[in-house]
Amino acid sequence: MFSTLLIPLLFQALLLPLATAAPIGGLIIPKINPAKILCQMPLVEKFLCPAGGLNGLSRATVFGTASGVVDADGAYRYPVKYATSSRWAPSTLVSAWNLPNGSNNVSALPLACPQPDVPSTAYTEDCLSMVLYVPQSLTLNSNAPVLVWLHGGSFVVGSATATGLDGSKLAQATNSIVAVVQYRLGALGFLAPNGNTNLAVKDVVNALEFIKRAAPAFGGSASKVTLAGQSAGATMIRALLSAPSASSLFRSTILQSDPMNFGHLRPATHTALLNKFKELTGCSSQSCQNGLSISSILAAQKTVYDSAPSLDPAAGNAQPIRPVLDGTFITTPLDISSTFPSVSKPLLVTSVSNEATYAIYDIFRDPIPEEYFPDICAATFGEERTTTVISSPFYQPSPGSIVDGEVDARAQLAILGTDYLWKCSGWTFARAWVQHGGNAFVGQYVVGATYPGNEQVPLCTQSDVICHQDDIQIVFGTVSNPTSAQSALITEVQQRYKAFLNNGNPNVAGLPNWAPATTTDVHSIRLGGTGEAPIGACDPTFWGSTVDYDYQYYN
Ligand SMILES: *[C@@H]1O[C@H](CO)[C@@H](O)[C@H](O)[C@H]1NC(C)=O
Ligand SMILES: *[C@@H]1O[C@H](CO)[C@@H](O)[C@H](O)[C@H]1NC(C)=O
Repeated sequence: MFSTLLIPLLFQALLLPLATAAPIGGLIIPKINPAKILCQMPLVEKFLCPAGGLNGLSRATVFGTASGVVDADGAYRYPVKYATSSRWAPSTLVSAWNLPNGSNNVSALPLACPQPDVPSTAYTEDCLSMVLYVPQSLTLNSNAPVLVWLHGGSFVVGSATATGLDGSKLAQATNSIVAVVQYRLGALGFLAPNGNTNLAVKDVVNALEFIKRAAPAFGGSASKVTLAGQSAGATMIRALLSAPSASSLFRSTILQSDPMNFGHLRPATHTALLNKFKELTGCSSQSCQNGLSISSILAAQKTVYDSAPSLDPAAGNAQPIRPVLDGTFITTPLDISSTFPSVSKPLLVTSVSNEATYAIYDIFRDPIPEEYFPDICAATFGEERTTTVISSPFYQPSPGSIVDGEVDARAQLAILGTDYLWKCSGWTFARAWVQHGGNAFVGQYVVGATYPGNEQVPLCTQSDVICHQDDIQIVFGTVSNPTSAQSALITEVQQRYKAFLNNGNPNVAGLPNWAPATTTDVHSIRLGGTGEAPIGACDPTFWGSTVDYDYQYYN
């Protein structure tokens, strides 16, 4: 009776509830700014107007004058549109500095990209925007690093304005520019009926081109760009690492909770999803496609998303709409199913200790008798992998999972989901990275901050249970009323990020040593705890070797 249930289960694991696009407070620059007028007089500018001219906030960029506001948390904040896109065409870099979506209100934050379950007033198709956060202390000569943040949301939801993503504190703590970037989502970003592939990934390339040109005017260095992202945002970074043409645009990467069990879509799987989408929308001509309403696109997208594992099991049961190994832009799977390329960029890979707990306990509200465990596994892994999984020592009932004398198999399922989707697949990636020339640092959050929505699973509110997304507000320092353990971890992580942004190494004097991963021992440190995370099923002889990840299994 349970055998069909794991299909929806891991589906929801990665979904970010879209945060209400609550504006972050800020000051509007006065419409008539005497300093601005003065600074336009050449002689005055030279003596009185530092940092690119105009006033404390405005910057003379190669795209024109950037104007911003002082964010509530103290950094300067600049919302900006970085690219223009026609529907299902590659985006093009802007040639002028403009606020997002034709806005003339510099205090306003960008609208999201079209997505389900929010009012249509919260999004616009003209959504290729970013928000720059710049410490007030930067000067034109600062040569500061840039941290580019890519949000998560299974490639169907999320935005630069989601809860916790105000980059003001992170920018100041790391003395860097933080750019929080939007990219096209869902069918609009990944299922172009005309055959264009990876449009959303190429949107991010334009964002990086924009940053390269604009950063110097804010005191940022175009050659010190680090990509950081969580969940699908980290998957997006893995796609960019697989695209040689994007390589020169960034020098290091931070992958938080990337569900690496899923490789890039293979072309045949992408075609299966695309054909279904075309069938549902019923459009063959470009004019018909351009005339489709957003709501009909989102409806067809939902059907494709929900039916993806039955269209092609290789699509997987979470984030089936994702970057595709198209062979021209993304040229390597970047996983151990085939030759791993040589790499050199420093890499930081983290997961949280209870990645799958939200998904498991959200779907299964009541305890699951142990005898159903094999059937539930088989629905996700098939018989062969299930036999190996259930006979291994790693997923036996633990004493802690016995309630009133009965085993509750949800505890085993949560560990299993965490292992194969995130933790072990991340370790496998780190080992391959090191083996092929790069430095990698691996960590696991054992302290977090409950992300909005996760409290629907009460277990996720326990201080020792760190659910998917609970690392986000730690990294950004946007936890409200942090505990002392949270404050300490925020300080630690931001210091480590600062070091990593500057020199590709998260070690800082005064903090515990973070040993780089080796090909045999990834040294995953416990962020918020002490020592290293237990290896368990992430032993190199188990996941990825005795039992295949999906990216191996379906090839
Ligand atoms: C500009 O945007 C801010 C933030 O959303 C809002 O509070 C303010 O009312 C807007 N101003 C105008 C003139 O629309
Ligand atoms: C901004 O978004 C709205 C809502 O999608 C759209 O109607 C409008 O045309 C957009 N404005 C510009 C200048 O693109």
